[in-house]
Amino acid sequence: MVTLRPYQPADFLRLVEIDQACFIEGIAYSEEEMRYFLDMPSATTLVAELEGAIQGFIIADRFRPRRASRYMGRIITIDVATDVQSTGVGTLLLNGAESELKDRLCDYICLEVAVNNERALRFYKKHGYSVLKTLPNYYLDSIDGLLMGKKL
Ligand SMILES: CC(C)(COP(=O)(O)OP(=O)(O)OC[C@H]1O[C@@H](n2cnc3c(N)ncnc32)[C@H](O)[C@@H]1OP(=O)(O)O)[C@@H](O)C(=O)NCCC(=O)NCCS
Repeated sequence: MVTLRPYQPADFLRLVEIDQACFIEGIAYSEEEMRYFLDMPSATTLVAELEGAIQGFIIADRFRPRRASRYMGRIITIDVATDVQSTGVGTLLLNGAESELKDRLCDYICLEVAVNNERALRFYKKHGYSVLKTLPNYYLDSIDGLLMGKKL
């Protein structure tokens, strides 16, 4: 059974490996970028594990919009190893991060996704996220992004 647990520093290289297999060069994070997001004081990172092997992870964050009393959550990235995609690991990770953000006083979650990432778009829509706006040339200065959001 796949289980969730918090990220530990020893997981780092496996997370980079999964991310680089999921995204093309230029969109995948470098080790430096990955470290930056993982080390953000407000970040929450969960890993999904099957018999000791990491199958995927999610990095989420929260911030407080100006004058708001509650927080806004943000999914930085969610990556599932290519050989186990479409088996429920992404759903487990997203549900885990949403529940953690809710516990951390977030009442809304946003994220960005490339307009041509059909699998991820379908995944987010299925989980209740709606497109809020288009972010022109957001990826590689040429591919539009979509800002999506969901009320928790
Ligand atoms: C997008 C992503 C995170 C989704 O994760 P996932 O593990 O593949 O997602 P799930 O398995 O939970 O759900 C996806 C599909 O599997 C199906 N599924 C879920 N549980 C299942 C199970 N136990 N058995 C078989 N199929 C299942 C779902 O019905 C869903 O089908 P649909 O997309 O046709 O509606 C993953 O594909 C991924 O890492 N992609 C590359 C990185 C990426 O693009 N990340 C998003 C960046 S914005």
